[in-house]
Amino acid sequence: MWDKIRLTGKEATPEGAWCRVGQAWLVPEIHSTANRVLANLSAMKVLFLNGPNLNLLGTREPEIYGRLTLADIEAEVRVRAGQLQVELDFRQSNQEGELVSWIQEAKGKYQVIVLNAAAYTHTSVALRDAISATGVPTIEIHLSNVHAREEFRHKSLIAPVCRGQICGFGVKSYILGLEAAVYVKEAAK
Ligand code: DQA
Repeated sequence: MWDKIRLTGKEATPEGAWCRVGQAWLVPEIHSTANRVLANLSAMKVLFLNGPNLNLLGTREPEIYGRLTLADIEAEVRVRAGQLQVELDFRQSNQEGELVSWIQEAKGKYQVIVLNAAAYTHTSVALRDAISATGVPTIEIHLSNVHAREEFRHKSLIAPVCRGQICGFGVKSYILGLEAAVYVKEAAK
């Protein structure tokens, strides 16, 4: 996605004048444009939040959640984040209030939150209110397909205030969540 940024209109120059700066192809003499582009590239910060019991991944109901630990998942997300030039923070808490505080603090620091709220997905008005109060675009993710499981998991209290929901793809739900975060930021430009 970042491979080639072509300048057009009055800033257009012949192909030969392009040079590579970081991940972008830019025309050297147009420094202000280059700086703006690079500032945008380096600005993308995504906060991954994980709710209760996700610290037990690896041994917790592996037939549902797989055998990867949360650290394994984080490592996979970091590989993709590196490819996409995204900075990541990756956290887990069993405390609802701590998750609420992290969502509140995200405003102004992160462009997008990717949230696996785990069981709080189905119960927490506080998380829902934090997401809508702070206004940081949030993507809901789950390892399992919550809609194919017990009925109480079909309802997400946070879904109406999230930009979208990704569930059922195991660790790939996290990767897709990261890619959706980049898409959401790009779409906001
Ligand atoms: C989960 C699904 C939730 O229903 C459950 O409470 C979890 C994990 C998932 O990632 O599949 O703890 O969010």
